[in-house]
Amino acid sequence: MRLDVEVWRQDGPGASGAFVTYDVPDCDPRMSVLELLDHLNEQLTARTEAPIAFESDCREGICGACGLTVDGRPHGWADNLPACHQRLGEREDGARIRLEPLRSGLFPVVRDLVVDRGVLDDVVLQGGFASVDTGLAPDADTVPVAHHAAEESLDLAACIGCGACVAACPNGSAALYAGARIAHLASLPIPALERAGRARSISRVVDEEFGPCSGYGECARVCPADIPLGAVAMVARERWGAALHPTRT
Ligand code: SF4
Ligand code: FES
Repeated sequence: MRLDVEVWRQDGPGASGAFVTYDVPDCDPRMSVLELLDHLNEQLTARTEAPIAFESDCREGICGACGLTVDGRPHGWADNLPACHQRLGEREDGARIRLEPLRSGLFPVVRDLVVDRGVLDDVVLQGGFASVDTGLAPDADTVPVAHHAAEESLDLAACIGCGACVAACPNGSAALYAGARIAHLASLPIPALERAGRARSISRVVDEEFGPCSGYGECARVCPADIPLGAVAMVARERWGAALHPTRT
């Protein structure tokens, strides 16, 4: 198949960018959006033109590096798939495809399709991890975890930190991301004070650095990890739990 591919080209963070249209022959419907960019970059380098900068790592839907906007939607056409799994077969031969960076004021453009998603790290730094005293680590079997709690925790821990939820939200809210970070640990038997402290500190960053959630729901539709919209409510639940019962178990 042959495609007209409009790509956002921007030389650096302070530079003004613009769309450039490329005629790309010999595309295969089985190619992913990232493979389309590989294919196009081969043609650009053969013509000694600068290749398009974009991020990728695993190409298996587990690293979150490939966040970009395809035809106006974070990651691409199909719901709940990362860009590395969005296939060109979704479009017709001769179609025009528009590729641009994740569009959010919170993610400044570094170059072309690459953005700085460092603001997401601020959430993780506020306690999106479990502290474990490895010197006295108990045998795992001595800390019983109900099967349903372990399943819920693992499902929420599937967040790959791609930032698509923030880019999809008209308010720039990180409620889905923060909910996954808070709730996957809150499902487990962690110390109550640590749980309350995590809820307070992550909530503060979410309030200070991101927009509010208004229940729009597009975050859950684009999320490649299938984090359910209910994770958003976990932020409020843990926040109020920390305020009212800071030492609860
Ligand atoms: S919640 Fe989903 S969309 Fe948001 S960062 Fe995690 S994986 Fe990406
Ligand atoms: S490249 Fe790792 S999730 Fe897409």
